[in-house]
Amino acid sequence: MDQQIHWYPGHMAKAKKAILRDLKLVDIVIELLDARIPYSSKNSDIDHWTTKPKIVVFNKIDMADPIATTSWRVFAEQKHPVILLNAKGGTGFKEITDVATKIMSEKMARLRERGRIFKPIRAVIVGIPNVGKSTFINSYVKKTIAKAENRPGVTRSNQWIRINKNFELLDTPGMLPPKIENPQVGVNLALTGAIGYNMDNNALAVKLLETLMQNYPNLLIQRYKLESIDKDSQKLITDIAKSRGFVLRGGQADVNRCSNIILEEFRNNKIGRITLELP
Ligand code: G4P
Repeated sequence: MDQQIHWYPGHMAKAKKAILRDLKLVDIVIELLDARIPYSSKNSDIDHWTTKPKIVVFNKIDMADPIATTSWRVFAEQKHPVILLNAKGGTGFKEITDVATKIMSEKMARLRERGRIFKPIRAVIVGIPNVGKSTFINSYVKKTIAKAENRPGVTRSNQWIRINKNFELLDTPGMLPPKIENPQVGVNLALTGAIGYNMDNNALAVKLLETLMQNYPNLLIQRYKLESIDKDSQKLITDIAKSRGFVLRGGQADVNRCSNIILEEFRNNKIGRITLELP
Protein backbone atom coordinates (compact mmCIF):
# COMPACT_ATOMS: atom_id res chain seq x y z
CA MET A 1 0.00 0.00 0.00
CA ASP A 2 1.21 3.52 -0.71
CA GLN A 3 2.97 4.78 2.40
CA GLN A 4 3.37 8.22 0.98
CA ILE A 5 -0.34 8.94 0.58
CA HIS A 6 -0.99 12.52 1.43
CA TRP A 7 -4.29 12.79 3.17
CA TYR A 8 -6.02 15.59 1.39
CA PRO A 9 -9.59 16.23 2.50
CA GLY A 10 -10.78 14.40 -0.64
CA HIS A 11 -8.87 11.23 0.29
CA MET A 12 -10.17 11.35 3.82
CA ALA A 13 -13.75 11.76 2.71
CA LYS A 14 -13.37 8.81 0.34
CA ALA A 15 -11.76 6.59 2.97
CA LYS A 16 -14.44 7.52 5.49
CA LYS A 17 -17.24 6.81 3.04
CA ALA A 18 -15.80 3.37 2.24
CA ILE A 19 -15.42 2.49 5.92
CA LEU A 20 -18.92 3.70 6.81
CA ARG A 21 -20.31 1.53 4.01
CA ASP A 22 -18.33 -1.53 5.20
CA LEU A 23 -19.27 -1.01 8.84
CA LYS A 24 -22.91 -1.47 7.94
CA LEU A 25 -22.16 -4.92 6.54
CA VAL A 26 -20.34 -6.40 9.51
CA ASP A 27 -20.98 -7.69 13.02
CA ILE A 28 -17.49 -7.03 14.36
CA VAL A 29 -14.67 -4.58 13.77
CA ILE A 30 -11.07 -5.73 14.00
CA GLU A 31 -8.89 -2.72 14.70
CA LEU A 32 -5.25 -3.26 13.82
CA LEU A 33 -2.69 -1.22 15.75
CA ASP A 34 1.09 -1.27 15.51
CA ALA A 35 2.37 -2.82 18.76
CA ARG A 36 5.37 -0.48 18.67
CA ILE A 37 3.11 2.59 18.69
CA PRO A 38 -0.36 1.59 19.91
CA TYR A 39 -1.34 5.16 20.68
CA SER A 40 0.10 6.83 17.57
CA SER A 41 -1.28 4.17 15.22
CA LYS A 42 -4.82 4.60 16.50
CA ASN A 43 -7.35 6.77 14.73
CA SER A 44 -10.14 7.21 17.25
CA ASP A 45 -12.62 8.27 14.54
CA ILE A 46 -13.54 4.63 14.23
CA ASP A 47 -15.03 4.69 17.74
CA HIS A 48 -17.29 7.57 16.72
CA TRP A 49 -18.33 5.88 13.52
CA THR A 50 -19.60 2.63 15.01
CA THR A 51 -20.73 1.05 18.24
CA LYS A 52 -20.37 -2.49 16.93
CA PRO A 53 -18.21 -4.84 19.02
CA LYS A 54 -14.52 -4.35 18.43
CA ILE A 55 -11.45 -6.54 18.79
CA VAL A 56 -8.22 -4.60 19.21
CA VAL A 57 -5.27 -6.35 17.59
CA PHE A 58 -1.68 -5.36 18.32
CA ASN A 59 0.20 -6.38 15.21
CA LYS A 60 3.96 -6.68 14.66
CA ILE A 61 4.46 -7.96 18.19
CA ASP A 62 7.64 -9.64 16.94
CA MET A 63 9.11 -6.13 16.57
CA ALA A 64 7.82 -4.64 19.82
CA ASP A 65 9.21 -4.84 23.35
CA PRO A 66 7.30 -7.71 25.02
CA ILE A 67 7.18 -5.99 28.42
CA ALA A 68 5.71 -2.83 26.91
CA THR A 69 3.25 -4.95 24.94
CA THR A 70 2.01 -6.51 28.17
CA SER A 71 1.47 -3.05 29.68
CA TRP A 72 -0.41 -1.91 26.60
CA ARG A 73 -2.52 -5.03 26.63
CA VAL A 74 -3.56 -4.56 30.25
CA PHE A 75 -4.40 -0.95 29.50
CA ALA A 76 -6.40 -1.61 26.33
CA GLU A 77 -8.24 -4.60 27.78
CA GLN A 78 -10.12 -2.27 30.07
CA LYS A 79 -12.24 -1.42 27.04
CA HIS A 80 -12.00 -4.17 24.45
CA PRO A 81 -10.69 -7.69 23.98
CA VAL A 82 -7.06 -7.53 22.84
CA ILE A 83 -5.18 -10.00 20.67
CA LEU A 84 -1.44 -10.04 20.05
CA LEU A 85 -0.60 -10.79 16.44
CA ASN A 86 2.37 -11.42 14.24
CA ALA A 87 0.64 -11.23 10.88
CA LYS A 88 3.87 -11.89 9.02
CA GLY A 89 4.88 -14.89 11.12
CA GLY A 90 1.32 -16.18 11.22
CA THR A 91 0.56 -16.33 14.96
CA GLY A 92 -2.53 -15.02 16.75
CA PHE A 93 -5.18 -15.79 14.13
CA LYS A 94 -6.99 -18.57 15.96
CA GLU A 95 -7.44 -16.28 18.97
CA ILE A 96 -9.17 -13.73 16.77
CA THR A 97 -11.67 -16.27 15.46
CA ASP A 98 -12.23 -17.56 19.00
CA VAL A 99 -12.81 -14.11 20.48
CA ALA A 100 -15.14 -13.12 17.65
CA THR A 101 -17.15 -16.29 18.18
CA LYS A 102 -17.32 -15.64 21.92
CA ILE A 103 -18.47 -12.06 21.41
CA MET A 104 -21.25 -13.20 19.11
CA SER A 105 -22.22 -16.34 21.01
CA GLU A 106 -25.05 -14.69 22.97
CA LYS A 107 -26.60 -13.27 19.86
CA MET A 108 -26.24 -16.62 18.10
CA ALA A 109 -27.88 -18.45 21.02
CA ARG A 110 -30.79 -16.00 21.03
CA LEU A 111 -31.39 -16.48 17.33
CA ARG A 112 -31.16 -20.24 17.67
CA GLU A 113 -33.75 -20.19 20.47
CA ARG A 114 -36.10 -18.40 18.16
CA GLY A 115 -35.45 -21.05 15.55
CA ARG A 116 -33.54 -18.74 13.32
CA ILE A 117 -30.29 -19.60 11.69
CA PHE A 118 -27.39 -17.37 12.43
CA LYS A 119 -25.41 -16.40 9.39
CA PRO A 120 -21.61 -16.46 9.65
CA ILE A 121 -20.07 -13.72 11.74
CA ARG A 122 -18.76 -11.02 9.46
CA ALA A 123 -15.80 -8.84 10.28
CA VAL A 124 -13.81 -6.01 8.74
CA ILE A 125 -10.19 -5.10 9.39
CA VAL A 126 -9.46 -1.41 9.85
CA GLY A 127 -6.18 0.42 10.39
CA ILE A 128 -3.81 3.10 9.22
CA PRO A 129 -1.46 2.57 6.26
CA ASN A 130 1.32 0.02 6.70
CA VAL A 131 0.00 -1.43 9.94
CA GLY A 132 -0.26 -4.84 8.28
CA LYS A 133 -3.85 -5.07 7.03
CA SER A 134 -3.02 -6.80 3.73
CA THR A 135 -0.50 -9.09 5.40
CA PHE A 136 -3.16 -10.01 7.96
CA ILE A 137 -5.74 -10.89 5.33
CA ASN A 138 -3.27 -12.82 3.17
CA SER A 139 -1.83 -14.81 6.08
CA TYR A 140 -5.29 -15.55 7.45
CA VAL A 141 -6.41 -16.89 4.11
CA LYS A 142 -3.29 -19.02 3.69
CA LYS A 143 -3.56 -20.51 7.17
CA THR A 144 -7.17 -21.39 6.64
CA ILE A 145 -6.55 -22.97 3.27
CA ALA A 146 -3.78 -25.08 4.80
CA LYS A 147 -6.18 -26.34 7.45
CA ALA A 148 -9.14 -27.08 5.18
CA GLU A 149 -9.26 -30.82 4.57
CA ASN A 150 -8.89 -30.69 0.83
CA ARG A 151 -12.18 -28.96 0.40
CA PRO A 152 -12.37 -25.43 -0.79
CA GLY A 153 -12.66 -24.13 2.78
CA VAL A 154 -11.78 -20.69 1.66
CA THR A 155 -13.72 -19.45 -1.24
CA ARG A 156 -13.00 -15.96 -2.31
CA SER A 157 -16.56 -15.37 -3.32
CA ASN A 158 -17.62 -11.81 -3.84
CA GLN A 159 -15.83 -9.73 -1.33
CA TRP A 160 -16.03 -12.09 1.62
CA ILE A 161 -13.32 -14.50 2.65
CA ARG A 162 -14.79 -17.52 4.37
CA ILE A 163 -12.45 -18.34 7.24
CA ASN A 164 -14.65 -21.16 8.53
CA LYS A 165 -18.35 -21.92 8.52
CA ASN A 166 -19.00 -19.36 11.23
CA PHE A 167 -16.63 -16.59 10.29
CA GLU A 168 -16.18 -14.38 7.25
CA LEU A 169 -13.84 -11.51 6.63
CA LEU A 170 -14.31 -8.61 4.27
CA ASP A 171 -11.44 -8.90 1.82
CA THR A 172 -10.84 -5.18 1.46
CA PRO A 173 -9.51 -3.60 4.64
CA GLY A 174 -10.73 -0.23 5.84
CA MET A 175 -8.05 2.39 5.49
CA LEU A 176 -8.02 4.87 8.35
CA PRO A 177 -6.04 8.04 7.76
CA PRO A 178 -3.37 8.55 10.41
CA LYS A 179 -4.41 11.13 12.94
CA ILE A 180 -1.57 13.44 13.77
CA GLU A 181 -2.74 15.34 16.80
CA ASN A 182 0.66 16.11 18.21
CA PRO A 183 4.15 16.26 16.74
CA GLN A 184 5.36 13.17 18.63
CA VAL A 185 2.63 11.11 16.94
CA GLY A 186 3.93 12.32 13.57
CA VAL A 187 7.47 11.37 14.56
CA ASN A 188 6.38 7.90 15.69
CA LEU A 189 4.45 7.30 12.48
CA ALA A 190 7.42 8.42 10.41
CA LEU A 191 9.87 6.31 12.41
CA THR A 192 7.83 3.15 11.90
CA GLY A 193 7.32 3.96 8.22
CA ALA A 194 3.56 4.56 8.35
CA ILE A 195 3.88 7.98 6.76
CA GLY A 196 6.40 10.18 5.09
CA TYR A 197 6.88 13.19 7.34
CA ASN A 198 7.98 16.69 6.80
CA MET A 199 11.21 16.22 8.72
CA ASP A 200 14.67 15.34 7.44
CA ASN A 201 16.18 11.97 8.26
CA ASN A 202 18.83 13.43 10.50
CA ALA A 203 16.22 15.15 12.68
CA LEU A 204 14.19 11.92 12.73
CA ALA A 205 17.22 9.82 13.71
CA VAL A 206 17.99 12.28 16.49
CA LYS A 207 14.44 11.82 17.82
CA LEU A 208 14.82 8.05 17.66
CA LEU A 209 18.13 8.12 19.50
CA GLU A 210 16.64 10.33 22.21
CA THR A 211 13.96 7.72 22.89
CA LEU A 212 16.42 4.84 22.72
CA MET A 213 18.91 6.53 25.04
CA GLN A 214 16.17 6.97 27.56
CA ASN A 215 14.41 3.61 27.31
CA TYR A 216 16.73 1.14 25.61
CA PRO A 217 20.30 2.29 26.31
CA ASN A 218 21.67 -1.25 26.34
CA LEU A 219 20.30 -2.06 22.91
CA LEU A 220 22.03 1.04 21.56
CA ILE A 221 25.31 0.20 23.27
CA GLN A 222 25.23 -3.33 21.90
CA ARG A 223 24.23 -2.47 18.36
CA TYR A 224 26.66 0.38 17.87
CA LYS A 225 29.44 -0.92 20.12
CA LEU A 226 29.43 2.22 22.23
CA GLU A 227 31.37 2.70 25.41
CA SER A 228 28.87 5.08 26.91
CA ILE A 229 25.90 7.08 25.75
CA ASP A 230 25.94 10.03 28.09
CA LYS A 231 26.04 12.56 25.30
CA ASP A 232 23.60 14.42 23.16
CA SER A 233 22.01 12.48 20.35
CA GLN A 234 23.47 14.57 17.53
CA LYS A 235 26.94 13.90 18.91
CA LEU A 236 26.04 10.24 19.21
CA ILE A 237 25.22 10.07 15.49
CA THR A 238 28.60 11.62 14.70
CA ASP A 239 30.34 8.99 16.85
CA ILE A 240 28.38 6.13 15.29
CA ALA A 241 29.19 7.47 11.82
CA LYS A 242 32.90 7.57 12.59
CA SER A 243 32.97 4.13 14.19
CA ARG A 244 31.20 2.71 11.14
CA GLY A 245 33.58 4.46 8.78
CA PHE A 246 30.95 6.82 7.33
CA VAL A 247 33.35 9.67 6.74
CA LEU A 248 33.25 12.38 4.11
CA ARG A 249 36.24 13.45 2.05
CA GLY A 250 37.36 16.15 4.46
CA GLY A 251 37.32 13.67 7.34
CA GLN A 252 33.95 14.83 8.69
CA ALA A 253 31.38 12.27 9.81
CA ASP A 254 28.76 11.49 7.14
CA VAL A 255 25.83 12.27 9.38
CA ASN A 256 23.20 11.92 6.66
CA ARG A 257 24.27 8.45 5.64
CA CYS A 258 24.51 7.41 9.26
CA SER A 259 21.03 8.78 10.04
CA ASN A 260 19.58 6.82 7.12
CA ILE A 261 21.26 3.63 8.30
CA ILE A 262 20.03 4.07 11.88
CA LEU A 263 16.45 4.56 10.67
CA GLU A 264 16.70 1.59 8.35
CA GLU A 265 18.12 -0.61 11.10
CA PHE A 266 15.34 0.43 13.44
CA ARG A 267 12.68 -0.35 10.81
CA ASN A 268 14.27 -3.72 10.10
CA ASN A 269 14.42 -4.59 13.78
CA LYS A 270 18.21 -4.78 13.80
CA ILE A 271 18.54 -2.70 16.95
CA GLY A 272 16.15 -4.91 18.89
CA ARG A 273 12.52 -5.17 19.93
CA ILE A 274 11.49 -1.61 20.65
CA THR A 275 8.24 0.09 21.63
CA LEU A 276 8.30 3.84 21.16
CA GLU A 277 5.55 4.82 23.60
CA LEU A 278 3.98 3.52 26.78
CA PRO A 279 0.38 3.71 28.00
P1 G4P B 1 -1.20 -2.32 5.10
O1 G4P B 1 -1.97 -3.28 4.23
O2 G4P B 1 -1.88 -2.07 6.40
O3 G4P B 1 -0.81 -1.05 4.42
O4 G4P B 1 0.20 -3.04 5.50
P2 G4P B 1 0.93 -4.28 4.81
O5 G4P B 1 0.18 -5.53 5.05
O6 G4P B 1 1.28 -3.91 3.41
O7 G4P B 1 2.25 -4.37 5.71
C1 G4P B 1 3.21 -3.34 5.76
C2 G4P B 1 4.57 -3.91 6.11
O8 G4P B 1 4.53 -4.48 7.42
C3 G4P B 1 5.03 -5.05 5.19
O9 G4P B 1 6.45 -4.96 5.11
C4 G4P B 1 4.68 -6.30 5.99
O10 G4P B 1 5.47 -7.41 5.64
C5 G4P B 1 5.00 -5.82 7.39
N1 G4P B 1 4.29 -6.57 8.43
C6 G4P B 1 2.95 -6.76 8.54
N2 G4P B 1 2.65 -7.47 9.65
C7 G4P B 1 3.83 -7.73 10.26
C8 G4P B 1 4.19 -8.42 11.48
O11 G4P B 1 3.37 -8.91 12.25
N3 G4P B 1 5.54 -8.47 11.76
C9 G4P B 1 6.48 -7.91 10.96
N4 G4P B 1 7.76 -8.01 11.33
N5 G4P B 1 6.16 -7.25 9.83
C10 G4P B 1 4.88 -7.17 9.49
P3 G4P B 1 7.17 -4.49 3.81
O12 G4P B 1 8.60 -4.34 4.15
O13 G4P B 1 6.44 -3.31 3.24
O14 G4P B 1 6.93 -5.67 2.82
P4 G4P B 1 7.66 -7.13 2.83
O15 G4P B 1 9.04 -6.85 2.31
O16 G4P B 1 7.66 -7.66 4.20
O17 G4P B 1 6.81 -7.90 1.89
